[in-house]
Amino acid sequence: MSAFNESRRRFLGQSSLGLLGFTTVPNLARAMEGMGMMMHNKHTDELMYPKITPNKASPNFHPDVELDLFCKPAAISILDGAKTNMLQYSARLIKGPKNTVVDIPNSYLGSIIRLQKGQKVRIYLHNGLSQPTVTHWHGLHVPQVMDGHPQYTIDSGETLVYEFEVVNRAGMNIYHTHQHGATAKQFYFGLGGALIVNDEEEAALELPSGEYEIPLVIQDKQFDSQNQLVYSPMMHNKMTGFTGDKILVNGFPNFHLDVASRAYRFRVMNGSTSRIYKLAWDDGMPVTVIGVDGGLLEQPETKPYVMLAPGERLDVWADFSGRNEGTTITLKSLAFSGVLPKMSMGMNHGGLPVGSEYPICTMRVTRKVSDSPKLPMKLSKFKRYEISDTANPNNPLPIGISEAPMSMLLNGHAYEFNNPLPFERVKVGSVQLIEIFHAHGAGGMKMDNKSNEHDQHNNGGEMKRSGGMGMMGGMNLSMAHPIHLHGQQFEIASRSISGDTTDYDTVREGFIDSGLKDTVLVMPMEKVRIIKPFQDYKGLFLYHCHNLEHEDMGMMREFSVE
Ligand code: C2O
Ligand code: CU
Ligand code: CU
Repeated sequence: MSAFNESRRRFLGQSSLGLLGFTTVPNLARAMEGMGMMMHNKHTDELMYPKITPNKASPNFHPDVELDLFCKPAAISILDGAKTNMLQYSARLIKGPKNTVVDIPNSYLGSIIRLQKGQKVRIYLHNGLSQPTVTHWHGLHVPQVMDGHPQYTIDSGETLVYEFEVVNRAGMNIYHTHQHGATAKQFYFGLGGALIVNDEEEAALELPSGEYEIPLVIQDKQFDSQNQLVYSPMMHNKMTGFTGDKILVNGFPNFHLDVASRAYRFRVMNGSTSRIYKLAWDDGMPVTVIGVDGGLLEQPETKPYVMLAPGERLDVWADFSGRNEGTTITLKSLAFSGVLPKMSMGMNHGGLPVGSEYPICTMRVTRKVSDSPKLPMKLSKFKRYEISDTANPNNPLPIGISEAPMSMLLNGHAYEFNNPLPFERVKVGSVQLIEIFHAHGAGGMKMDNKSNEHDQHNNGGEMKRSGGMGMMGGMNLSMAHPIHLHGQQFEIASRSISGDTTDYDTVREGFIDSGLKDTVLVMPMEKVRIIKPFQDYKGLFLYHCHNLEHEDMGMMREFSVE
């Protein structure tokens, strides 16, 4: 029995504490085994992740910034009455600029970590939980051993040292747990936070900052009558992902902000495990987007609404100039359809159905001011690649999504550690054209051979709906998946949709495709082509669905960059 198994057993043994209720995990695994369908690869528990000694601080690395990052249980007052048992990150600055660490008072969300491009950073991750964990820097381009791949999981009481240079441009990233099989649950219980990178290009714009730059981390949770979190993906159809019936922003229900009549910069993150939002202002003000996952756009984009899937970020400019004192503006999620399988319609989604209309948070103008910064019409410049720059312009690397009630696969396979398919081996330094599409027939689409086999599978862009497992008893299981790739951020080259677009028409104006992305929402019947560089670092880099329930079910693979 490996040390990993021991920690895993200890981990599962915690369920009697009731905090995490992990009994659902072995039960689920057993239920799936009974059906001959595995939650994740059967080898997972036996072969994956041999126990390794956690990385230590290196004497040759001279950090500009050094910080402790603790993960620990915390009881937080969220609703009236009893506190809620959560898991929490909290950072403590050892060395570096004072504003590197900012706590959100009274919130379970992790401290905001603010880094400068070019800084050398050392982070000591201290596992103060009673279960294994590991932390990933979602959006950062770091060496493989610093990426928080679940193979680097540490046990309770252990410390893992990360050392990297910030090579990213300015942008809002996410740090979150990546404990395979428990990512969704640990994130849901609180293990996530914002990691903001700043750089000179951004500073020159003099965008609203300080009290005028506000993170909005949107999450949905469900509480029981004792104010404790409920997390029971099995109560829903597991395949849709878990949703809560309460929207929290920055860790608070009914989030409300007093604002001045001037421009604000909202750094918006979808920190939900599976819920997708269609964000809009209730007073008809369009949504002005100045940045996405990978930082600022070249120029602002103005949209009636913007879609935000789990793992995605938005940099939103909102100008309340000219509003009278007392004016209230509500950020809402508007109605939309088509992101969930048709069979799940009418199912209970915790009383707040995905795609229904509901408020996210409100802003109230309480101070009239006479001047405000103006929206810059030119925001940034960044390196762009064309399809002709890719190593495979005519032979895109496939990411085929397939879904069935108990298995969620990529390229026909559930997650396996260090077992890449031939086309998942990518040359370091190359730029790849990647095509993300729906390959119906869970497990039926075996793509073990050449990647050009993909062209046959995907001929004509429309998937073969008839006969595959994508259709079960006449019900269409196709749904939307936010696909995330670790490592360098990518460009969106094209989207194409085929078939009946009635549902798609409810979301189609909400995509911002002009910036650098690391997570892209792929709607049912949609095919998205992206251009992604694989520069600098070799090793295993994950790609997966950021519907975290899907990820934990095995909808995750690795690129082996060689
Ligand atoms: Cu935000 Cu691999 O994850
Ligand atoms: Cu990531
Ligand atoms: Cu998914």
